[in-house]
Amino acid sequence: MKVLVTGGAGYVGSHVVAGLIDAGHEPVVYDNLSEGHRESVPAGVPLVEGDIGDLAAVRAAISDHGAEAVAHLAANCYVGESVEKPLKYYRNNVVGSLAVLEAAVSCGARRIVFSSSAATYGQPEAELVTEDSPQHPVNPYGETKLAFERALSYAAPAFGLAPVSLRYFNASGCWPERGLGEDHAPETHLIPLVLRAALTGGEIKVFGTDYQTPDGTAVRDYVHVRDLAAAHILALEAGREGEHLAFNLGSETGFSVRELIDLAREVTGREIRAVDSPRRPGDPARLVASNSLAREVLGWTAGHSDLRSILASAWEWQRAHPEGYSAAS
Ligand code: UFG
Repeated sequence: MKVLVTGGAGYVGSHVVAGLIDAGHEPVVYDNLSEGHRESVPAGVPLVEGDIGDLAAVRAAISDHGAEAVAHLAANCYVGESVEKPLKYYRNNVVGSLAVLEAAVSCGARRIVFSSSAATYGQPEAELVTEDSPQHPVNPYGETKLAFERALSYAAPAFGLAPVSLRYFNASGCWPERGLGEDHAPETHLIPLVLRAALTGGEIKVFGTDYQTPDGTAVRDYVHVRDLAAAHILALEAGREGEHLAFNLGSETGFSVRELIDLAREVTGREIRAVDSPRRPGDPARLVASNSLAREVLGWTAGHSDLRSILASAWEWQRAHPEGYSAAS
């Protein structure tokens, strides 16, 4: 299947492109390279440079390449920045996404897989968050992801679309064998920052040590990007015309910030200095997915998502690319 991958030069998007190729599909990358990396687009895969807000350009990319499906990952994705610049998030994640949807509708691309987020749940109470847990986002990022999910729910029956939203928990890990890694600027995510501290002898701040969790630090569900990539391919096939489906993608296992740092010390063999720091605003204490729906309906498993393998893969990539893609040899 020919698939337009918006944000295909980004962290998760580049892994989705690699997964599509392995599954025998033909990806076409659509990316404005504002945060994505040209170097992460494999040779032979078309790269269309453009903005998702540019309806005519998205439409042309779909029709010129004969794409039958769209994997829509292009977005701004920093929770903290979304609080400071909410309109940027509404413009790109909602208005931009609507242009992608309109382009898909007008070109007859009925299969749409959308990169959604655990952030749509806000601060859930449940030990394991299920898809029918209440969605009450606590920041503009989560709001914008939920807004587009809702647009998909209305658009599916109206236009006979088969959209699937994938609610990622903490995307993590790398695919060094394919030259794919995690390179955000600025970097705010825990794992790359912990590994950077291991590499440089710097320190990692532990944001919040007084949560109602076993060791007082926040608990997250880390899911390997390779597993996320596999879910996109399954979701392309599993869409049902006229219905919007949504799945949690997580490992069902929570790790605290302290546990993760301890494991990173083991994996890297390095001392990592951790400094207790105040909570980061907007952080929930615990976010762990139930993934039973994705297992049952998509036949998905979180096979690469044990935290030791995630850290080992990220460490391998980080050591080979201490300054990210652009400085890679
Ligand atoms: N953390 C630290 N120190 C750091 C960075 C992070 O202690 O230097 C903590 C955070 O406070 C949090 C945990 O590590 O408790 C994980 O933080 P990340 O920034 O790696 O990830 P988040 O859980 O904040 O965010 C992830 C995705 C978002 C998504 C969100 C859903 O990166 O895109 O999950 O809630 F919106």
